[in-house]
Amino acid sequence: MPQPIVLSFKENLDITEESSGNFVFKLLQINFNLKQLSPGLIAAINVLRGDGATEESLHELVLKTDGFSSLTKLYYYLQEFTLLGIICHSIRVDGVTLATMVPISTAQKVQLVNAAPDKKYVLSRFAFSRKDGEQMVLESPLSHVQIILSDWRGSAIVNSLTKPQTASQVSALIPAVSNDTVQMFFSLLLTAGMVSEVKAEGQILEQENDTLAQWEFHDLLFHSRSRAGRHSNPLGKSYRFLGKIEPPPVVKPKVSNDIIQLDKPDLEKLKQEDNPFTLIIEQRDSIRVQGNQPITDKQLGEFLYRTARVRATFPKDEKECSDRPYANGGACYELEFYIIVNRCENIPEGLYHYCPLDHQLCKISDKNSYLETLLKNAETATVPPCNPQILIILATRFPRVSWGYESMAYALTLKHVGVLYQTMYLVATAMNLAPCAIGGGNSDLFATATGCDYYAETSVGEFMLGSRA
Ligand SMILES: Cc1cc2nc3c(=O)[nH]c(=O)nc-3n(C[C@H](O)[C@H](O)[C@H](O)COP(=O)(O)O)c2cc1C
Repeated sequence: MPQPIVLSFKENLDITEESSGNFVFKLLQINFNLKQLSPGLIAAINVLRGDGATEESLHELVLKTDGFSSLTKLYYYLQEFTLLGIICHSIRVDGVTLATMVPISTAQKVQLVNAAPDKKYVLSRFAFSRKDGEQMVLESPLSHVQIILSDWRGSAIVNSLTKPQTASQVSALIPAVSNDTVQMFFSLLLTAGMVSEVKAEGQILEQENDTLAQWEFHDLLFHSRSRAGRHSNPLGKSYRFLGKIEPPPVVKPKVSNDIIQLDKPDLEKLKQEDNPFTLIIEQRDSIRVQGNQPITDKQLGEFLYRTARVRATFPKDEKECSDRPYANGGACYELEFYIIVNRCENIPEGLYHYCPLDHQLCKISDKNSYLETLLKNAETATVPPCNPQILIILATRFPRVSWGYESMAYALTLKHVGVLYQTMYLVATAMNLAPCAIGGGNSDLFATATGCDYYAETSVGEFMLGSRA
């Protein structure tokens, strides 16, 4: 006989009894009142906000206190609490809680599913366990709940499910848990979408889903946690470090005194003489064959000025912000331009950082083996292989974004890379240069080549530029 599951309210649910029998419930966007509750229902609410109880015990409590009249209300309220995502389900053995299933979103109602005693189950490849505060939790981007693993036996059951197992096989492996307890645990994991049923012929249901098969674990986790829906973490501007950590400056300080002042183009002249916008859009192409005569310092200067310079700085959103030619969420402007000059007229080979405020290149190093490898990596990413005259590496000063934005900071910085790529493509097309975005790069090698702290400033995009053949 499977052991019953204990119901309780979520820990962070705020419940106030304003007057006798009148309760106010608050949790993030949830805010509701229950009025004139009977003594039996008051007792049940108090049990749920404390240690919790099984549905059967709550039934007994209300029946004993109020009689039959309140039972319908009890079940109605339990149903509503579940719909609101404020009810937790725990497995408790001899007074010790093994695991608790906690809703983390209201997008999907938690409907307890019973695992079959004779069936095999296996852990989902999307399930993962991590430390959250002082607890070990099991989570999955497929799930709208989190399971708190509060006792080693819960973790041991999860660990045993890396291979398909029946409840009795698991309890044989872990003698400290009974077959009934394991089966209850399976029901919790099945309800949470963290295990998959294994068919008699051995096929795993989750693996038979062709759509899911094409999601990698990290992609689905990133997607589900950086958008609203299946979590209740703050999302968007929250300024959680305001008053605690200084945001990085609006413009990165110059990296060296070895400076090349770049030419500024005449924007008024360009406004008159540039090709029309539609022609530029229609002519834009990725060009992987570059000319023998390399790009000039003047062209590189014009390209950077039209793409990336700082037009103005101003205070906004509790920090200093800037105005530049491309759009950027919250005007954080966290992306930095690192330029590997491979061949350029009037600019020596080497690695430079672009100072967008003073329109200068600050030299970091001469050509070395790190730069050769970064150039080679870009070359092998194109067909035909293109050894670029210029390789621009975009790096994010990530804390510029994560200082203000929560849950979505990295997603935001990648979107900014896309915005910049298109701006770079269009400016290069207008200038009759050869542009090509590159889809991947080595952030550790970038950190070694530049001396940047991987966590403070890391590469997120690469872009080839050169003269046309
Ligand atoms: C984010 C992104 C990554 C890209 N990565 C590469 C790459 O690694 N190698 C490459 O040769 N082209 C790359 N490209 C260029 C695309 O292959 C190209 O845009 C696409 O084939 C359409 O052709 P078009 O740009 O000439 O219109 C990339 C483009 C983008 C926007």
